[in-house]
Amino acid sequence: MKKFLIVANWKLNGNLNFIDKNINLIKKINNLLHYCKIAIAPPYVYIYYLHNYLKNTSINLVAQNIDIHEKGSFTGEISINMLKDIGVKYVIIGHSERRINHYENNNFIAKKFILTKKNGLIPILCIGETKEEKKQNKTEKICINQINSILKICEVNIFYNTIIAYEPIWAIGSGKIANINEIEKTINFIKKYISSINQKISESIIFQYGGSIDKDNINNLFQIKNINGLLVGKASLTIENFISLVKKAEKKMSLLRS
Ligand code: PGA
Repeated sequence: MKKFLIVANWKLNGNLNFIDKNINLIKKINNLLHYCKIAIAPPYVYIYYLHNYLKNTSINLVAQNIDIHEKGSFTGEISINMLKDIGVKYVIIGHSERRINHYENNNFIAKKFILTKKNGLIPILCIGETKEEKKQNKTEKICINQINSILKICEVNIFYNTIIAYEPIWAIGSGKIANINEIEKTINFIKKYISSINQKISESIIFQYGGSIDKDNINNLFQIKNINGLLVGKASLTIENFISLVKKAEKKMSLLRS
């Protein structure tokens, strides 16, 4: 059975002092883990620093982005091989903050997803609709378009053992998670869509939810059967809160799986 994967996305937050101050607490999370896996996405410049601290733990590292080029004259970019070199396991692809603030379109995101997967790292593909698209009942269409942009270039096998994070854009940073029934309906729909192409591939995918998760609303999310993980932003920045969240997930998973 798949472990429940909780990813902490620090976004543009944290510094050496934050890491040094919290590293013992972060390492303690490792001892809690039986049914869950934890991965942390610090800003690029702190990945290797954290990697050295977490070497002997099962906590994995995540990059928040990647360039589409493998090397060359691309000032300011970071390549897949560099990420591999510093111990990264997962890469967040197509986060809405990159789609919006850095104008990344579906085609560009598809290239990053394929490059990541083909090079042996695990892409976490973020998909989801805006508030306006939700009002127009376009959620499913938007999510399928985001997935189809990859399927246009590659066979469905590219999704084998990858992660799809459903993150309604309007829920991110809003303080309110999306409606549980709606999350379940959307993830079911995406899962079925991929299953209609290849069931085995669909079953291998970890489906996460992301958007204003915290220790106080996490229990509601466990009512959703098809979720195998969470993508947590703000609530991962206070390590004590993050630990409470992980403890709740562990407790729930132990009940569900015993
Ligand atoms: P949030 O961010 O938990 O702060 O809403 C989630 C995300 O952007 O992945």
